[in-house]
Amino acid sequence: MEIIKNIEDLNKFRSNYDQISFVPTMGNLHDGHISLIKRANEYNDTVIASIFINPLQFNDKNDFINYPKTLDSDISLLIKNECDCLFLPDQSILNNIKQIKSSYKSQHLCGLNRPGHFDGVLTIVNRLFDLVKPTRAIFGKKDYQQLLLISDFVKENNLPINIIGSEIVRDQSGLALSSRNNHLSADEKKLASNLYKTLNIIANKLDTLTINDIINEKNKLRDLGFSIDYLNVCNPLELSEESNYNIRPLIVAIAAYIGEIRLIDNILIT
Ligand code: PAJ
Repeated sequence: MEIIKNIEDLNKFRSNYDQISFVPTMGNLHDGHISLIKRANEYNDTVIASIFINPLQFNDKNDFINYPKTLDSDISLLIKNECDCLFLPDQSILNNIKQIKSSYKSQHLCGLNRPGHFDGVLTIVNRLFDLVKPTRAIFGKKDYQQLLLISDFVKENNLPINIIGSEIVRDQSGLALSSRNNHLSADEKKLASNLYKTLNIIANKLDTLTINDIINEKNKLRDLGFSIDYLNVCNPLELSEESNYNIRPLIVAIAAYIGEIRLIDNILIT
């Protein structure tokens, strides 16, 4: 695997290949990230991954500073999973960066309590697309709102990039893998698996679901010790709350805290 740290070398590498599948990450890689590399390899393209902890998308400066850095093990995992190139830019890619403003869809779900977060995501993803010039880019459905906003952005700007959404990878208990899970104790991890259970309870009774059922499920999670950012049933294209639970598709999405740790998950019902 080639490890490239500057734009000049990236351009040289890029000029040797036609089709590129791109997997942008912030590192601290786990099986969720690796599933995206595997998905990228299914297309027989050249696979480029990037690791860049993007300061523009953090609301909390300490969160950014304390973001876990595990470069050596990330590199080993990428090599083992046949990634062709790792782009490891430094902060200079932020110089003169074109600021992107995310659409109204960023006002729902995770965007509500994280002002500017998705502007920061789109701004860096657009810059990375500009540098890597991928023909395909793969994102996890775990960050469903991020995936949707990036897909919309690519369509609206006619970028020649095929955006692929890849399935959520979970541990045996159902907990969606996330770098943030590393901050949880074994007991907290067990507790965290209730998020997916709650999503399933709601998804499995949409036919008879009422708003009170959602309130009850929220209260049950609060009793277990969660603090809830949102638990919504939404239209998956608009992200607005849906009150007619009989239509399809729908997405059931949750964000909740265990202590300081914010966890997200969702189930898409088609
Ligand atoms: P990061 O959190 O490192 O995630 C990188 C990619 O891995 C994202 O597309 C995310 O959805 C995917 N991913 C994370 N956990 C997953 C899981 N359990 N199953 C499937 N996919 C999973 O998302 C970001 O970085 C950043 O916002 C980024 C797009 C790199 C821009 O800075």
